[in-house]
Amino acid sequence: MGLHFYISILSIAALALCTLAEEDSSVNFSYIGQNGPEKWGSLSPDYAACSNGKIQSPVDLVYTDIVLNNQLKPLERNYVPTNATLVNNQFNIGVHFEGKVGDIYINGKNYSLRQLHWHTPAEHRAHGRVHEAELHLVHLTEDNNNIAVVASLYNLGDPDPLISKIEDKLYELENQSRGAGNKNAKISLGIFDVKEINQNIHRYYRYIGSLTTPPCTEGVIWNIVGKVRTLSKKQLELLKKPLSVNFSHNARPLQPLNGRQIEMYHYHPNRNLTSIFRIHLNKLFVFSNTRFTLPLTQRHHKSTNDIYLF
Ligand SMILES: *[C@@H]1O[C@H](CO)[C@@H](O)[C@H](O)[C@H]1NC(C)=O
Ligand SMILES: *[C@@H]1O[C@H](CO)[C@@H](O)[C@H](O)[C@H]1NC(C)=O
Ligand SMILES: *[C@@H]1O[C@H](CO)[C@@H](O)[C@H](O)[C@H]1NC(C)=O
Ligand SMILES: *[C@@H]1O[C@H](CO)[C@@H](O)[C@H](O)[C@H]1NC(C)=O
Ligand SMILES: *[C@@H]1O[C@H](CO)[C@@H](O)[C@H](O)[C@H]1NC(C)=O
Ligand SMILES: *[C@@H]1O[C@H](CO)[C@@H](O)[C@H](O)[C@H]1NC(C)=O
Repeated sequence: MGLHFYISILSIAALALCTLAEEDSSVNFSYIGQNGPEKWGSLSPDYAACSNGKIQSPVDLVYTDIVLNNQLKPLERNYVPTNATLVNNQFNIGVHFEGKVGDIYINGKNYSLRQLHWHTPAEHRAHGRVHEAELHLVHLTEDNNNIAVVASLYNLGDPDPLISKIEDKLYELENQSRGAGNKNAKISLGIFDVKEINQNIHRYYRYIGSLTTPPCTEGVIWNIVGKVRTLSKKQLELLKKPLSVNFSHNARPLQPLNGRQIEMYHYHPNRNLTSIFRIHLNKLFVFSNTRFTLPLTQRHHKSTNDIYLF
């Protein structure tokens, strides 16, 4: 595969990610009917990875596939306020950032936050459990050639402070999308502060996968946050309402792991993990062999009231 080909595939991916189309362009894939997920790969040669790919997303975080990797680094973030636009991408609702919001640093590369969007219900599963929604924070390297996504899953519960800030705009977006029939409706948010997502990530699950929408580009570094977010029922409805019936359920079905491992990062301030966990397989530790087996239910952290996937 030539370098040029590689770059052009990635720029297609970047285009699809940004969906900054000025005109009322139509998306030809769907989540139901004749252009549903099992047909994506046949809609365009550019979408071939959707059916031929071997490292596709989303996946089920089955706990026996999860290994602790003490070499993983914290996902430090310090996103700053910047101009942003709420966008109906047709297949989901997102926020596009115009300026520099902030970076995450993975394996020697900086990835900048370019956009975020939601899927309803969630795409990734936690040992089979389906959550109500999933937030994707999409980061790209400066040359747009590499993608890293930080994903959070939601339970129904207290309103999400991030969505609360755009509730009025979501009503407006619905009005513009339906009333005015503008499928690509967008609304300026002005300077948008995403401090609600700056929280330290004490646990995340990493694997290499793909975009979950066409062109299903592979090589995406997925980081699924261990802490579960909550959103209210009203917020869940607001994220669906501007979308047409083909996209109001916009979770791609699970894809096979095909032997991939899911690595776990775990931060603990007072303990030396190396001394707690028996090191195995060259610093990788298989959880199911220990008394630290992940519980199959969500874990409630009593001192902080936080809920974790496991
Ligand atoms: C939904 O997708 C189908 C193709 O699967 C298409 O024929 C139909 O026009 C789409 N409907 C809407 C409302 O976009
Ligand atoms: C679907 O859309 C893609 C991207 O715009 C395009 O390349 C492809 O030809 C379209 N396929 C069909 C069957 O309309
Ligand atoms: C945000 O956008 C407004 C209006 O386009 C512009 O005047 C302002 O300079 C922008 N601010 C930043 C920080 O980019
Ligand atoms: C990543 O970004 C930080 C902060 O902007 C910078 O200090 C660092 O040199 C960058 N690293 C690389 C590898 O570009
Ligand atoms: C809905 O959209 C129309 C046309 O764009 C506008 O005139 C009306 O004020 C909007 N209503 C609300 C509640 O935003
Ligand atoms: C952690 O514990 C291991 C095994 O006891 C030891 O070799 C290592 O030096 C310790 N690391 C730190 C940072 O204390």
